[in-house]
Amino acid sequence: MPPQTGSAEKETQPVSAFLQLLTWEEIKIHNGHGQGQEQWLVIDRKVYDVSKFSRQHPGGSRVISHYAGQDATDAFVAFHNDKSLVKKYLKSLLIGELAPDQPSFESNKKKSLLEDFRELRCTVEKMGLLRPNYTFFFLIFLHIMVLDAASWLMVWYFGISLLPFMVGMAFFIVAQIQMGWFQHDLGHCSVFRKPKWNRLLQIVVISVLKGLPASWWNHLHNQHHAKPNCFRKDPDLNMHPLLFSLGKTLSVEVTFIKIKTMNRPSLHPYDF
Ligand code: HEM
Ligand SMILES: [Zn+2]
Repeated sequence: MPPQTGSAEKETQPVSAFLQLLTWEEIKIHNGHGQGQEQWLVIDRKVYDVSKFSRQHPGGSRVISHYAGQDATDAFVAFHNDKSLVKKYLKSLLIGELAPDQPSFESNKKKSLLEDFRELRCTVEKMGLLRPNYTFFFLIFLHIMVLDAASWLMVWYFGISLLPFMVGMAFFIVAQIQMGWFQHDLGHCSVFRKPKWNRLLQIVVISVLKGLPASWWNHLHNQHHAKPNCFRKDPDLNMHPLLFSLGKTLSVEVTFIKIKTMNRPSLHPYDF
């Protein structure tokens, strides 16, 4: 993940005397499923109405909606590099704040777990582990290109008899796997400081070299990190019995394998 600050608190506006005071009971029902499908979320004890904004959210509507009715402070801090840009949007969405007697997060979240997580994050930042190492990433990119070129050259020079084909294939597979990991780091904007360079190189790696759309991958993978191991929210857990799933309706089913969709419990310590 890219370098970030430890809290969103300094980025939000000063508390207004006119802000309505809200309880978790009131916030929780605005989870997008109730009447009017309203969505409220909490960031550093401030309550925001994202019902309309979620559809315009630059990171996609799903990722933000997964936090409707919940405290989104840590995810908010983790996902936004450009705090001044995000701050501009926040002002118009603010509708209230948590009443003084309310805890900063929902009752089903463990305080000690949250504190541990925030402490770990601070330590990781202080140790400089979120700062990119350009030499490392340059070598990664170089070895991918060398392996990819070697696989094609092998077949071009020695032909498609079994041995050169198998060796070329081995180079190609390793290159493809390494590209997957490299584009993952680019998708997290972890390689360059400026997001646009990460996005540009990600398109080269995942779209040009692997043939997949970068926006599709980012959309799914950001949800995975926003709600890791939460059934129905983490797309990495959606192992439905389909061969292809093109959009919500068009799908090609594997009819000869019977896979039962299990009602798995949430693996996430906090959430559903
Ligand atoms: C009211 C709250 C929020 C506001 C105002 C907001 C605003 C924004 C803005 C302006 C961007 C574009 C940033 C850029 O281009 O540099 C963005 C991107 C994004 N946001 Fe939010 N956001 C909010 C809440 C959330 C939450 C709760 C999550 C996660 C659960 C989230 C996840 C993301 C992601 C994944 C991106 C894309 C990041 C990228 O591609 O680099 N946002 N958001
Ligand atoms: Zn990741």
